[in-house]
Amino acid sequence: PIDPNFPANHQVIEKFKDPLSENYHLVWGPGRLAEASSNPKVKSDSEATGEEIKPIGVHGTFVAVDWDSCIADGVCLLSCPVKVFEWYKNPGETGRNDRKDYTDKANPVKEADCIWCMACVEVCPTKAIKVDQL
Ligand code: SF4
Ligand code: F3S
Repeated sequence: PIDPNFPANHQVIEKFKDPLSENYHLVWGPGRLAEASSNPKVKSDSEATGEEIKPIGVHGTFVAVDWDSCIADGVCLLSCPVKVFEWYKNPGETGRNDRKDYTDKANPVKEADCIWCMACVEVCPTKAIKVDQL
């Protein structure tokens, strides 16, 4: 589940720009980039496997998804009436996880459009989402 106090317990590690719009949101870590700089094993593992180290942590601030908890269930994308989320690996896709890629993540690229219905918070099986009314 998401840490409800993530803004206090984490720091901003990246600004994520939606490839399909001018929207961006904050990414809160530690996360794997910070881990890589403090843990040489993470870095050497990534060099050995060729896997790029990408930031992972909490994406978004007012609609926040903990990417370490998200298992790409996809029910949040389906339940959001204003399509706040899109798939990280498949930008622009807002439907169910038909590819069955459970390494993809729900990306809150339109968090400013949220109408605080709380549907996503209630349905996520891993309680990965926190929504705060502004
Ligand atoms: Fe969408 Fe409602 Fe979740 Fe906001 S609270 S992101 S409107 S499902
Ligand atoms: Fe992920 Fe939960 Fe949505 S697992 S895809 S945040 S429903």
